Amino acid sequence: MQTSDFLVIGSGVAGLSFALRAAEHGSVTVLSKCNFLESSSAKAQGGIAAVMDADDSFEEHVADTLDAGAGLCDEAVVRQIIQEAPACIKELLNWGVDFDMEEDGQFCLGREGGHGKRRILHAKDTTGLEMSRKLLAAAHAHPNIALLEHRVAIDLITSAKLGSVTQDRVLGAYVLNSLTGDVDIFRSDRVMMATGGTGRVYMYTTNPTTATGDGIVMAWRAGASISNMEFVQFHPTTFFNPQAKNSEGLTFLISEAVRGEGGVLRGPDGEEFMQKYDPRKSLAPRDIVARAINSEMLRTGHPCMYLDITHKPEGFMAERFPCIYETCLNYGIDVEHQMIPIVPSAHYQCGGVQTDVNGQSSLRGLFVAGESGCTGLHGANRLASNSLLECVVVSKRALSLMLCNLPLTRELEDFPIPEWVQGEKAERDDLAILYHCWDEVRRTMTDYVSIVRTHHRLQRAASRLRNISREINEYYWGYRVTPDIIDLRNITLTASLIVDCASRRSESRGLHYTLDAPDKLNQARASIMRNI
Ligand code: FAD
Ligand code: SIN
Repeated sequence: MQTSDFLVIGSGVAGLSFALRAAEHGSVTVLSKCNFLESSSAKAQGGIAAVMDADDSFEEHVADTLDAGAGLCDEAVVRQIIQEAPACIKELLNWGVDFDMEEDGQFCLGREGGHGKRRILHAKDTTGLEMSRKLLAAAHAHPNIALLEHRVAIDLITSAKLGSVTQDRVLGAYVLNSLTGDVDIFRSDRVMMATGGTGRVYMYTTNPTTATGDGIVMAWRAGASISNMEFVQFHPTTFFNPQAKNSEGLTFLISEAVRGEGGVLRGPDGEEFMQKYDPRKSLAPRDIVARAINSEMLRTGHPCMYLDITHKPEGFMAERFPCIYETCLNYGIDVEHQMIPIVPSAHYQCGGVQTDVNGQSSLRGLFVAGESGCTGLHGANRLASNSLLECVVVSKRALSLMLCNLPLTRELEDFPIPEWVQGEKAERDDLAILYHCWDEVRRTMTDYVSIVRTHHRLQRAASRLRNISREINEYYWGYRVTPDIIDLRNITLTASLIVDCASRRSESRGLHYTLDAPDKLNQARASIMRNI
């Protein structure tokens, strides 16, 4: 058993930025499911949105965020997060993050879809890697932070589950050491859940292997409310690689910042098509662009559309987007002279554990920041580059509230917690079948719960997921727990929560589009679910 003042599950930007601040007040343990840099944070390309230019204003950033969110953002939350951005950028600079600068010493600001102004701070096209590396180095150097890789949180431990009659609260987590196979108890009265998104429930995604919705479903199983899971954002421009043997080859992102610098979407005949869908053309918000590409692919029968940036001067792409330039060259496309073949892929989960702007969930002691939380910032569709911003602002506010409401006494230290009970069945000989279940979940979500949905498709998905879930509970969960079994259990529940939320929405809004009801209803409402 290990005890710390703060337990952080996740080593992305949300988890690490929280850990660095919390370490000034007590001991912090940070758990990471794989290695520390296997995260969406480390893959982030475009940058972090913040109002840093005299020509821009908080009001304009708020208006763009609300517009993208399609009537479902919490305006007060949007305002708070956007206004606190500059202070958090200063903190990032203090932790050593290097953003690109202009020669006159001002930030070099990029533009992305849905933003009326240039307001994206970036480090070339590997902003997330720069942020993650610098935060990780600062965390390694901090004497109050213990960083542990290859630790997979399985479930939260709560007082109610242990028969307490007082207010339910979180006590820590059961955690698998995937190198040894042991399950340990990590105790803490203050848990920061920062496990990232859910992209891996789909076959084609920009997300890393860790994005299996773990934090969301752990919180759900512990009794916390979740909301808005139907709003899965598909990024319009992922590299299309017809030679790819599996989904791994199809996941490379072509940053929206390329369109921000003038990249234009074209059909196979070289003609622009976005003017048919939105006056902002290639820089319309992502839900609109992804649906337009999907619709053009269906109309033309072509397996992809194209992003054209060939009009830029020679050398521009290699200088501004070196990672994209090199990666495309490796795939055989010289972006300075050829159009880039692209398709939409699952990219971002706008829903998650329902929290306030301080990341506080409905379960005492459980805070959530980053992609696994749902504060109300993104509504029905996230504005580009607002995610890294949410990670750093919400994790900061969460610590302030924890310090006020959960004094650093270890009042629950004596609460007895039973050891994890391993399943009694011995070694499995059926790994292949387990992978078939995983594939079935991902194929079901890709076929039935993608960019365009119908009630009938959602029903079919729900029925398939119910069967897989029954199989997991009756069969796999009786074996010694392994990372594969944990992932399968979590993606199946994550997928079911997405389908359940989607089935409750009898309209089309933002990222949820159903052919059965293609318009918005007049009254905007979040889809909130409680596991009771
Ligand atoms: P992550 O960074 O995903 O970190 C999750 C952490 O949780 C990982 O360390 C993982 O190991 C750990 N974890 C998960 N499950 C468990 C478990 N069971 N036990 C222990 N640990 C666990 N957003 C922007 O704002 N700007 C961008 O330019 C941008 N570009 C993007 C590009 C790509 C390719 C992708 C995929 C996303 C991009 N996004 C961008 C979105 C943004 O990067 C993510 O939403 C954000 O980084 C999420 O941060 P996080 O800390 O919540 O989660
Ligand atoms: C991108 O660079 O296109 C990703 C930005 C984001 O997801 O916010």
